[in-house]
Amino acid sequence: MKIDKLELKNFRNHDKRAFSFGDKTVIVGENGSGKSNILEAIYLLATGKSFRADTDLEMVNYERQFFRVDGKIKDNGDLGVLLNEGRKKFEVNGISKRMMDFAGRLKAVLFGPTDLDLITGSPSIRRRYLDFVIMQTDREYRRSLISYEKGLRQRNKILENIREGLAERNQLWFWDRLLIKEGGYITQKREEYLDKANKSGTRYKAVYDKSVISESRLKQYEVEEVGAAVTLVGPHRDDFTVEMSAKDISKYGSRGEQRMAVMWLKKNESEYLVTDEGVPVWLLDDIFSELDHHHREEVEKEVERQIKKGGQIIMTTADPHVVPKGWDIIEM
Ligand SMILES: Nc1ncnc2c1ncn2[C@@H]1O[C@H](COP(=O)(O)OP(=O)(O)OP(=O)(O)O)[C@@H](O)[C@H]1O
Ligand SMILES: [Mg+2]
Repeated sequence: MKIDKLELKNFRNHDKRAFSFGDKTVIVGENGSGKSNILEAIYLLATGKSFRADTDLEMVNYERQFFRVDGKIKDNGDLGVLLNEGRKKFEVNGISKRMMDFAGRLKAVLFGPTDLDLITGSPSIRRRYLDFVIMQTDREYRRSLISYEKGLRQRNKILENIREGLAERNQLWFWDRLLIKEGGYITQKREEYLDKANKSGTRYKAVYDKSVISESRLKQYEVEEVGAAVTLVGPHRDDFTVEMSAKDISKYGSRGEQRMAVMWLKKNESEYLVTDEGVPVWLLDDIFSELDHHHREEVEKEVERQIKKGGQIIMTTADPHVVPKGWDIIEM
């Protein structure tokens, strides 16, 4: 799976720009020139979401009211994401689609300088990670996630009202059932994903720390949750750890071991995203600058392996000296 062309309009610092990509493209430019923004736009075409923005509006150029991102996918049509009047819209070959019918037509794996947070950061980073991966392969997951998040907000609002004496417990029933159904699916898919990673038979193991949502679990927390005015069980409270020799790497692993564990996660992610249409595009955001010579070579080897499988790599760097030979170069 490959992206041939990308067009940006009012997207972050890019007013109007078009790019073409070969199998191996490196985007070279100074700090702040807009390299990561390009990868963000490509990842947006793959997942329907930004990997860095908290709100979609952040992606609109400060001085404009809308943005538009268009991509030409090899053998898979044209994808467009636009934001207008505060609303994000999706298009496939010019026809408007819902997010759940849009994401995953392009598949991409993102490697970035903050990847180590996947091991050492907060649980929400790991949940988000699982969502970004699974969303690219499973329409039902996308649907469940949207429905679950909406349901959760509603349920929490009712909990707050119960606390204030403005609502009754029976108003929760509908939302309980919805969250149990959608949450169950989310948990199941996350579990399957991590199980699959563990079958790759290495020294690493992902351990799913799931927060099951069920009638009995909700019952167990029914007093506490009114006090807290938030739903205390469900996949929005999930986490996972990566272990090496049954030890949690975030606590016991060396920096290098943590880095290797990230690589293991990413390789599994990439495997997971392989389909009949080929391997996912790799987006490498400025990863060489952090690595020593040895690790750089290791990454280069992985990259060559991916290319042999028919892959496409798009990477960024601020340092023209790390540009490998034989790559197409985009200068910012
Ligand atoms: N909504 C926006 N409108 C206009 N400019 C923006 C917006 N969001 C971010 N920017 C600007 O875009 C610029 C480029 O950001 P980006 O992260 O892509 O740079 P980069 O080339 O990856 O830099 P680095 O090498 O430091 O990683 C930044 O200067 C940032 O201030
Ligand atoms: Mg950057």
